[in-house]
Amino acid sequence: MQRLTQFLKQDETPADLIELINLLMSACKEVNSKLQNGALEGILGSAEHENVQGEVQKKLDVIANDIIKLTLSQSALVRGMASEEEEHSVAADLDGKFLVTFDPLDGSSNIDVNVSVGTIFSILPAPKDATGCKDEDFLQPGNQQIAAGYVLYGPSCLLVLTTGNGVDVFTLGHNGEFYLTREKIQIPETTREFAINMSNQRFWDKPVQDYISDLLQGEDGPRGKRYNMRWVASMVAEVHRILTRGGVFLYPWDSREPKKPGKLRLMYEGNPMSMLVEQAGGRSVNTQKEIVDVEPQNIHERVSVVLGSKEEVDAVMDYHKNA
Ligand code: AHG
Ligand code: MN
Ligand code: MN
Repeated sequence: MQRLTQFLKQDETPADLIELINLLMSACKEVNSKLQNGALEGILGSAEHENVQGEVQKKLDVIANDIIKLTLSQSALVRGMASEEEEHSVAADLDGKFLVTFDPLDGSSNIDVNVSVGTIFSILPAPKDATGCKDEDFLQPGNQQIAAGYVLYGPSCLLVLTTGNGVDVFTLGHNGEFYLTREKIQIPETTREFAINMSNQRFWDKPVQDYISDLLQGEDGPRGKRYNMRWVASMVAEVHRILTRGGVFLYPWDSREPKKPGKLRLMYEGNPMSMLVEQAGGRSVNTQKEIVDVEPQNIHERVSVVLGSKEEVDAVMDYHKNA
């Protein structure tokens, strides 16, 4: 089996990017080991502190953020970082050529119930003409990403990665090495599976209401087939399922917080997941356009997300166009 570094070299990934990915993985392996020890290290539960999003942080949100931040800040390749758990960008080496954005722990509501969580990351070029490291330097659309991926801390610890040449999956072995276990994966174009938090139904706008209501009618409805539903409440787990067997995932705008475009964050959830999905032949939109074409205004900007099997995402777009 091929090791991560060996594979990336053969895939013609530049040496500095390989170094950065390996560094990120050293941090994620540390997060994985904390998660595996769980209650034995006293790391479950709430940190009794709110992040910039107004969400109560879990202890592990803070621990994972600190591990990744500390690891990346030691690299001469990294100009700076933007994290879900940091109000502003954090500078590293001011000559660094990469910017990294990350969601240190995605699905944190699942930590205490021992369900899969993950780390999502996006690698952007540091602007050549900029000095220092400012929040504005990160405000690049997702189509500028050099690489994106996630580490899924599930029954196996997996790295799912794209450097713009398809999507590959690596499994962490007991020896601390990631090995290639699935190559150039493709999302099936059609599906009979959808994922949405149904408890928000009454807050959705009409096109989303209509779309889901048509799916629920199954073979008797306009879509003419019976659908299954899943909701893990960890975006990493939903995207991984979709990359494995297809499906459509929606976290649309809703009227609970009407001024926000959605719940999920563009820079470290929407963009990296969109790059992966597109690289695997799927589609990812905000119901108006491709998420990777959204020009960000803020590092913690929210975005409405519809991603997965192309036929379903196209259908959701049609419901919006015809509305
Ligand atoms: P995070 O734990 O990083 O804040 O992200 C959680 C996100 C995402 O992973 C998931 O799809 C969604 O929130 C679940 O939201 P609900 O609890 O509203 O279903
Ligand atoms: Mn998240
Ligand atoms: Mn998070």
